[in-house]
Amino acid sequence: MSNLDLTAPGTYLRNCWYVASASREVRRQMRAVRLLDEAIVLYRREDGSPVALEDACPHRKLPLSMGRLKGDAIECGYHGLTFDGCGQCIEAPTQQRIPAAAKVHSYPVQDRYGLLWIWMGEPQQAAQTPIIEIDNHDHPDWHLTQGDSLLCKSHYLWLVDNLLDPSHVAWVHRNTFAASGTEDTPMQLHASEQGVVCSRWIFGKPPPPFYAPLVKFEGPADRLQHYEVRLPSTAINRSIFAPAGMGGPQVGDDPRVYRMVSYNFLTPIDEQTTLYFWLQHRNTDAHDPALTERIAAGAKAAFEEDRVVLEAVHQGMKNPRTPNIGLLLDTGAARFRRTLAERIAAERIQAAGR
Ligand code: FES
Ligand SMILES: [Fe+2]
Repeated sequence: MSNLDLTAPGTYLRNCWYVASASREVRRQMRAVRLLDEAIVLYRREDGSPVALEDACPHRKLPLSMGRLKGDAIECGYHGLTFDGCGQCIEAPTQQRIPAAAKVHSYPVQDRYGLLWIWMGEPQQAAQTPIIEIDNHDHPDWHLTQGDSLLCKSHYLWLVDNLLDPSHVAWVHRNTFAASGTEDTPMQLHASEQGVVCSRWIFGKPPPPFYAPLVKFEGPADRLQHYEVRLPSTAINRSIFAPAGMGGPQVGDDPRVYRMVSYNFLTPIDEQTTLYFWLQHRNTDAHDPALTERIAAGAKAAFEEDRVVLEAVHQGMKNPRTPNIGLLLDTGAARFRRTLAERIAAERIQAAGR
């Protein structure tokens, strides 16, 4: 078992896809971002394909994002070294020869689900690893939202903890996701190589305020809370509401069964800050943009409630003078951290052997 400190600077799983940005926010202008503590410049070539380069000229390390785009290439704003979208230097205007070492790291990137995904590890490994598959994403009865994002001044693992903890809704989301049964119904834990699932069925309770106008039946509901986090930090939050008596592991495809899947993608900026992206996917009202907007606004308001708590937790947990305790509800989060630590340790051993 690894005893790696997951909160130490630079401690991230690298050979995996992270979300760098909403696709719509990367255009024909350079955009400087920081991801996993690395400075990166994003832009699009004239044909629309995305580029991600290390944001530092190999001469005096001026951020390339302070230069300018020349067609598909990027020209340093200090002495004009020019790099193509693969990071190769193609022009050195102050001398005849292009120095052999004049190149910058080029990160594999691709657009999917309206998001721009970036590979932060060994570029050669990117092609063997698919981006997460969203079930039913092209199903005509389902609707996938464009999603949104927020910046949270907290270590990403405090967000992971939160997304493996269905009980917090009873206190943090009192007016949206909370309902009777969310405080004390026991949880099932399932761990795999991919990550951890904490889930439970809550039987025969009225749906909470966020879902009450969305479900397609009256009266009490059987509710599934499925909180899953997959490596590196992708949280899949499935909600099912079935008329009371129809829920449980054998829940069928009755048209009244309401399903919503919330995909949450956490990308560490550094050990103090996290980018939080999400998409919502539901099996009803595929062509109701007003409803989509209401759901998006409701989800954003709820995630703001999490943000306020998690930023305060991040600060609070820096205080070593008083002890902190674990609770039973932390079991899933602790299991996930163990899996993550083992994977990062294995990745480091593999990288050292190259
Ligand atoms: S710093 Fe970029 S060319 Fe000199
Ligand atoms: Fe929450």
